[in-house]
Amino acid sequence: MRVALLYNARPVEAISNVPDDAFEEYDSLETVESIAGALRQLGVEVMAVEADGELPWRLREGGFDFAFNIAEGVGRRCREAIPVAVCELLGIPFTGSDALTLAITLDKFVARRVVSPDVPVARGLLVEREADESELRSLAFPVIVKPNDEGSSKGIRQNPVAHSAAAAIERCRWLRERYSCPVLVEEFLSGMEITVGVVGNYPNARVLGMMEIAPADSDEKEFVYSVEIKRDWQRRVRYHVPPRVEAKKIAELENLALKAYSLLGCRDVARIDFRLDSEGQPRFLECNPLPGLNPLSGDIVILSRERLPYEKLVQGILLDAAYRVGVSMI
Ligand SMILES: Nc1ncnc2c1ncn2[C@@H]1O[C@H](COP(=O)(O)OP(=O)(O)O)[C@@H](O)[C@H]1O
Ligand SMILES: [Mg+2]
Repeated sequence: MRVALLYNARPVEAISNVPDDAFEEYDSLETVESIAGALRQLGVEVMAVEADGELPWRLREGGFDFAFNIAEGVGRRCREAIPVAVCELLGIPFTGSDALTLAITLDKFVARRVVSPDVPVARGLLVEREADESELRSLAFPVIVKPNDEGSSKGIRQNPVAHSAAAAIERCRWLRERYSCPVLVEEFLSGMEITVGVVGNYPNARVLGMMEIAPADSDEKEFVYSVEIKRDWQRRVRYHVPPRVEAKKIAELENLALKAYSLLGCRDVARIDFRLDSEGQPRFLECNPLPGLNPLSGDIVILSRERLPYEKLVQGILLDAAYRVGVSMI
């Protein structure tokens, strides 16, 4: 069994003329090597394959039986869909969600529309160009202003929270200039942040675990899991597994995560981000069908590590995918 590990590597050196978080979603070679190592323990042959413009040729000539996908792709809101679309074109089965799900989930506004009202979301609006002041005023402040089709907190830097329409307009402009993308303005959810790991497939999709993401400094107001905080997670974040909420809330979150997973058509694995509103009601922020798998800092790795060693998590994704498509791994 020859497995292509599809990835996009984060450049080691800073690149001029682009924001310093431009490649935040891409993976380090350490992550790629860790995944390859875990998969090799299954007795399969693994080759890392960069998902750039040469991907179709690399895949066609590589003689692969399966692809393990962590590639974030290149381009705008369809970028994550492209590497797996190429696999589909070439008839190579792959782990994780297909092109439609990867495209929907990268466009946060579309994902919100797919999951709600079954899974509640914060009130929000999409700003394609200039923000309209009267539309913005229909939201309750403060609001958070984030790129609509980015991940890994890209564009969510210091001060993403706006307390007035004027500040939100300014923030939308700043984001559009830097990231040239539509902007999502959402009412700020002041409650606890919880991320839920889901694995498997219908009818056996299951919650792997969930964790609360809290500021290390408990006095911190308007905590946001921003690029700066994620990069400095060991100092600035405290993860609580399970979240410090009552059992009823955990059950509710499990339910909502499975519902979102199913409505978005996720396969094999995903991590779904929620936040509680001021009344303690969970609201969906976004779904990550390509959750970061760094062995130390990947959120899904952290939330599951008490129950599942890293190698088993990674191997499980391939085994679930193989079972789904009816391919034997031995
Ligand atoms: N409506 C919101 N209210 C409060 N915090 C939010 C909201 N939306 C996003 N955030 C904060 O910003 C972080 C990143 O937003 P998210 O929508 O998960 O995008 P990303 O794809 O960049 O992870 C979240 O983990 C959370 O801390
Ligand atoms: Mg997120």
